[in-house]
Amino acid sequence: MCGIVAYIGKSDATPILLDGLRRLEYRGYDSAGVAIINDGGLVVRKCVGRISNLSELIQRDPPHGSVGICHTRWATHGGVTDENAHPHFDQSGKLALVHNGVIENYQTLRDELIREGHTFKSQTDTEVLAHLVGKHYDAAKGEPSKARLIDALRAALKQVIGTYGIAMIHSDLPDFIVGARRGSPLVLGIGKGENFLASDVSAIVAHTRDAVYLNDYDIACIDRENFEITSLLGGRSGYEVSKVEFSEKDVDKGEFPHYMLKEIFEQPETVRDAMRGRLSLEEATAKLGGLEMTAAELRGIERIVLSGCGTAFHAAMIGEYLLETLAHIPTECEFASEFRYRNMPMTKDTLVFVISQSGETADTLAALRESQRKGHRTLGICNNVASTIARESDGGVYMHAGPEIGVAATKSFTSQLVILTLISLLLGRIRHQSTSEGIRVIEELEELPEKLRTILKLNDQIRDVAHKYSDAKAMMFLGRQFNFPVAMEGALKMKEISYIHAAGHPSAELKHGVIALITPELPSVFIAPEDSVFDKNISNIEEVKARKGPVIAIGTEGCTQLEKVADDVIYIPKCADYLSPILTVVPLQLLAYHLAVKLGCDVDKPRNLAKSVTVE
Ligand code: M6R
Repeated sequence: MCGIVAYIGKSDATPILLDGLRRLEYRGYDSAGVAIINDGGLVVRKCVGRISNLSELIQRDPPHGSVGICHTRWATHGGVTDENAHPHFDQSGKLALVHNGVIENYQTLRDELIREGHTFKSQTDTEVLAHLVGKHYDAAKGEPSKARLIDALRAALKQVIGTYGIAMIHSDLPDFIVGARRGSPLVLGIGKGENFLASDVSAIVAHTRDAVYLNDYDIACIDRENFEITSLLGGRSGYEVSKVEFSEKDVDKGEFPHYMLKEIFEQPETVRDAMRGRLSLEEATAKLGGLEMTAAELRGIERIVLSGCGTAFHAAMIGEYLLETLAHIPTECEFASEFRYRNMPMTKDTLVFVISQSGETADTLAALRESQRKGHRTLGICNNVASTIARESDGGVYMHAGPEIGVAATKSFTSQLVILTLISLLLGRIRHQSTSEGIRVIEELEELPEKLRTILKLNDQIRDVAHKYSDAKAMMFLGRQFNFPVAMEGALKMKEISYIHAAGHPSAELKHGVIALITPELPSVFIAPEDSVFDKNISNIEEVKARKGPVIAIGTEGCTQLEKVADDVIYIPKCADYLSPILTVVPLQLLAYHLAVKLGCDVDKPRNLAKSVTVE
């Protein structure tokens, strides 16, 4: 949540910062701001609303200078107001700071600073941090210097409890930018005669693909030619320069009107990429070196716990079915936000997987750390290779889905499901599964990209169905077995981007209460492919129809029964029951997308949301 970018170089900083900020808008879009060093002073522009508002403000009176910092906000402390927009300043007005994270003890620090004579302009925790650094800087004697500013930052950060990814400038020191991180991501981009700091490489990939992913407690100081990384804990900090795997093109919408639609349409490739090089027909198994576990260790697993949030949690729910069906390993899934407060009894041979597209979700990171604290091997299933979860986990599997920018998770979900299937196959094959069963799973997996292409061709039909139901005030999503979590995922997609209330339930739960809601005004979406529970789903559809509830069904092509009971049917190609969620979810993604577009919603940036939820 919140995105920051900092630039120091020879070019005009404002357009570079604004462009970077646009790429980070998925991290928050309540307000935005920029501060530029100009003529020995600081020029600031900030306002509520999207980057486009800031851009208009800047066009009226552009600040010029080649050093600057900027921020896009997802409000935590203090309402969405111009005053609360970043950058924030210290008491002297010479130091400007942008921050992603939460200063938990800000109130105590603020009260203390007020007693010392500081006055605040905003309600934010960030302004407290700016004042604290400024206080230490001003208290130090001597000439303005980089060392004095870094020492002041160190002193301030030692007083702070919480998380931060920050960048700051000081008008006394027009040739430096200082950044620091703890708990919130920060990357340093190395250019030629220019350097960058940003919350995410997508903000700087247009300028450089050489990046250093900073670690917690790193303090980075950049000038035009050099950079230096020290540790808050003392001394220099080790670092590695990585090549960013994707280019500027990968973070563009291309021909699509929205990132979400682009990402839905990327799924035939991203599903292929999730399994690329990981299947062995010869051994009829999956190869996942990143797990860093020997065959004996894998065989010794007695129980698995899967954890994540939102869409990743829905993938975990399907993972539970997959691991039990294909690998016969008792598996449980738990919301990452509940995991560490639950104190689940776990034997020492329990393996934990945390699932996260961004790899930065605070609750999932907390679950990872809690599980490790208790001595469990904890593996990550992440998309963002440089993320905190990817780096802190004891091993794992990358999704290789490319950047997912739309706030609604789409392609990351199907990649997570492919990976959970690969893990289940691997574990099944070293236990009870026969070679022919393993080969069957591989063949089914390899057919997925083509089947996904077939579904995407139904885009127009799905749009028409969405338009037909665009007056609905609420919707029900129902499915059984592997497709019960898909019902929950379909409901989440609908809620978050169209603001239509939706709920996902196991179809059989209808008669235990939910059926009371059924009226001609409440459409139900049944995920009912021809699987082992198909007949049961048909009965549940009949129950809804008997109460005049409209029904949209997702069924298997060639099935004639659904047409007789449902009002609209969207057909997907036939596939194994355990892989069906990878197909059935796609019409639901498109349904939510088209309905949201029809209702005029901002699909890629739904209200109140942010892509990476880095606060608890
Ligand atoms: O980056 P993560 O996978 O950890 O994110 C988890 C959730 O915040 C995320 O899936 C969220 O629910 C999406 N907006 C759902 O579309």
